Amino acid sequence: MRNSSVYDVETYIADIYDQIITEQDDVLFIKQHLGDKNKLSILEPFCGTGRISIPLAVDGHSIVGIDNAKGMLDWFQRKLDNTKSAGEVKLINQDVLAKEWPQGFDLVILAANCFYELATPEVQEECIKRAFKSLRAGGYLYVDGDHMEGDLAKSWQDLGQVKKSLCGIAQDGAVVETTRKTIWFDVKKRLARFERGTTVTKKNGEVIKVTSIQQKHPVSTGEVQDWIQKHGFEILKIYGNSDGTAYTEQSPRAIFWARKP
Ligand SMILES: C[S@@+](CC[C@H](N)C(=O)[O-])C[C@H]1O[C@@H](n2cnc3c(N)ncnc32)[C@H](O)[C@@H]1O
Repeated sequence: MRNSSVYDVETYIADIYDQIITEQDDVLFIKQHLGDKNKLSILEPFCGTGRISIPLAVDGHSIVGIDNAKGMLDWFQRKLDNTKSAGEVKLINQDVLAKEWPQGFDLVILAANCFYELATPEVQEECIKRAFKSLRAGGYLYVDGDHMEGDLAKSWQDLGQVKKSLCGIAQDGAVVETTRKTIWFDVKKRLARFERGTTVTKKNGEVIKVTSIQQKHPVSTGEVQDWIQKHGFEILKIYGNSDGTAYTEQSPRAIFWARKP
């Protein structure tokens, strides 16, 4: 099953995303791990609006971002155009599963629950495999996701409930509302399927409505660890949060910092 993009409603979702998702703790974490290495070549699949990639470009690193939502990349480019000095940035508007990723990078970033964008463990594992091919020997892999072990968490089993997520007022005054309703789940396989809807009401009264079905597989730490090792990486450390605390069974996140030998 392929997910269609729920982020691609002109630049409206990008606009609201940047108003709501303002965390920089993961950017700081990555910068600390890069230390004083400069002018690195970095690949960020699922790059979105450049929340992570733009600060790294401003540090002088060169970036390749891949994202299948044109609206997110247009927003990324608009922000970049307003940035005084930055390393080279190339944005590729394509599904991460469509083609092989470009190669020769020093770092591949799989950030902020990006695996939740994919429908099955098979395609998530494929991303780890592609990350390995994309890195030069000695290059690093960063993978960050929520920590969920065992069966699908109870909070994912809320069948029929409609939840609002990315909602707000866009810069042009349009009202943006996105909703998500769980329509199916499998506790043992850790799969959940959602009906997603976006409504944009523009100031001139025009209304855009988009709906899609999306399936998610919240990864376990064990799965990600197995894929990373199976595809040839050496795991340098698993963190439990971006403040640098070590991973434990109670950690809120599982953040992998790995190296291609
Ligand atoms: C939650 S946003 C994260 C953006 C960015 N990494 C960050 O941390 O702010 C996820 C992004 O992944 C993109 N995306 C989802 N599925 C994708 C796919 N199959 N191929 C490429 N991009 C995808 C979406 O368009 C969206 O911009």
